[in-house]
Amino acid sequence: MRTEVGIVGAGPAGLVLAHLLHLRGIDSVVLEARGREYVERRIRAGVLEQGTVDLLDEMGVGERLRREGLVHEGIELQFGGERHRIDFPSLTGGRAITVYGQQEVVKDLIAARIETGRPLLFEVGDVTVNGVETDAPSIGFVHDGERGELRCEFVAGCDGYHGVCRESIPAGVLTEFSREYPFGWLGILAEAPPSNDELIYCYHERGFALHSMRSPTLTRLYLQCRPDEDLDEWPDDRIWDELERRFALEGWMLNRGEIVEKGVTGMRSFVVEPMQFGRLFLAGDAAHIVPPTGAKGLNLAVADVRILADALAAWFEHGDESRLAGYSAEVLRRIWRAEHFSWWMTSMLHRLEGGDAFDVKLQLAQLAYVASSPRAAASLAENYVGLERV
Ligand code: FAD
Ligand code: PHB
Repeated sequence: MRTEVGIVGAGPAGLVLAHLLHLRGIDSVVLEARGREYVERRIRAGVLEQGTVDLLDEMGVGERLRREGLVHEGIELQFGGERHRIDFPSLTGGRAITVYGQQEVVKDLIAARIETGRPLLFEVGDVTVNGVETDAPSIGFVHDGERGELRCEFVAGCDGYHGVCRESIPAGVLTEFSREYPFGWLGILAEAPPSNDELIYCYHERGFALHSMRSPTLTRLYLQCRPDEDLDEWPDDRIWDELERRFALEGWMLNRGEIVEKGVTGMRSFVVEPMQFGRLFLAGDAAHIVPPTGAKGLNLAVADVRILADALAAWFEHGDESRLAGYSAEVLRRIWRAEHFSWWMTSMLHRLEGGDAFDVKLQLAQLAYVASSPRAAASLAENYVGLERV
C-alpha cells in the first residue's frame, strides 16, 4: 500500500487532517486501532471554540453542527453561594462557543471521509512506525488478520496520549514537560434536561463541580474526585446528592434523570517538544494534554492539524520545506498558551488536597476578581472562546 501521508489515529486530529489534505488533493490513509462504533460512541469533549466551528464549516462538515450545536454566549462561575456570568460577546468582540459532543464531530468527519472514497481502516493492530529519518517512511500494521505495510512520504502521529507514534521516537530526542494533579473528575451523562441554559463552573468546599450538556434532553455533569476514585462507591443517588450539595443555590433545582454513562478521568498537563522527528509529525493529544477545566484539548488538536495540513500542502504543492520545519515552533505557541489557561482554571477552581486556609482565600480572591473586573473577565473569556492569534 502506498500513499502521500500515513495518518495514525482517527480521533479529531487524524480525521480533520485527513479531510483538509483531501480538500487540497493530497492522498492519505487513516489507520485506527478501535472499531468505528467505539470511536463514534466515546464520550469526551463538548465545547468547540469559534475557530473550530468556523474551520469545520469551511471544510464542509459543519452542516449538522450548525443545526444541532448549542451556541453559548457565556458561562457562569459559582462560588461563595452566588453565580456570576461571564458574557463572551461583549468581552471578546462578538465571539462565542458551541456545545456539540466530540463524538458527533467524529461521526460527521467519518461520514465525510467515507464519502471521499479514500481509505480509513478500523481495528488495525500492531502499528509500527519505521524509517521516519529517511525519505521513505512506512507504517507496519495488521488488518483483518493480515500484515500490511503502508509506504508514505510523511507520517502524522494523531494517535492520542497512549499511542505508539510518540513512543517510537528514540530516547533523548524529545523533552517532556508535565504536571499531575492530585484529583480527577467523575463524569456522568444523564437523560435529564439541562438545569441551566449555560455551563456552570462551581467552586465548592467539597470540591469542584461542572454543569454542562449535550442537547436539550441530555445533561453532562462532573464532580471533582480522587484520581483513582472507585466508581462502585458511587451509586447514582450518591452522585446526585453530591452534585446537589455543590451546586446548591436558593431557588434553583438540579434536574435528575437516568444516568446513561459514568466514568472517572485523571488530570494532567503534558507537552513534548519538538513535535517532529524526521518525517514524523505529532499532533493533538499525542503531543500534549491539558486538564479539561479549560475545554481546550479537542480545540488544540484541531488547531495543530490545520497548521500541519498547510505545511504539508506547501511541501506537496511547491516543494517548500520551511513550513514543515517551522511546524513545531508554530503550534507550540498556542499549545503553551492553552497549557497555562487550563492550569490556571484548574488551580483556581479545584479544592487542593493538602491546601490550607491561605490557598482557599487566594482562590476566592481570584474568583472575585474575575467576577467583578471586566478586564480580568475579558482575559478568561478570550482564552475560553479561543484566541484568534497567539
Ligand atoms: P484522540 O481523540 O485520543 O484520538 C486518538 C485516536 O488514535 C483514537 O481514536 C485512538 O483509538 C487511536 N489510536 C491510539 N493508539 C493507536 C494505535 N497504536 N494505532 C492506531 N490508532 C491508535 N477537549 C476540549 O476541547 N473541550 C472539552 O470540553 C473537553 N472535555 C474533555 C472531557 C473529558 C472527560 C476528556 C477525557 C477529554 C476532554 N477533552 C476536551 C479533551 C479531548 O477529548 C482530547 O483532547 C481530544 O480527543 C484529542 O483528539 P486527538 O485526535 O488528538 O486524540
Ligand atoms: C463537557 O461538556 O464535557 C465539558 C465542558 C467544559 C469543560 C470540560 C468538559 O471544561
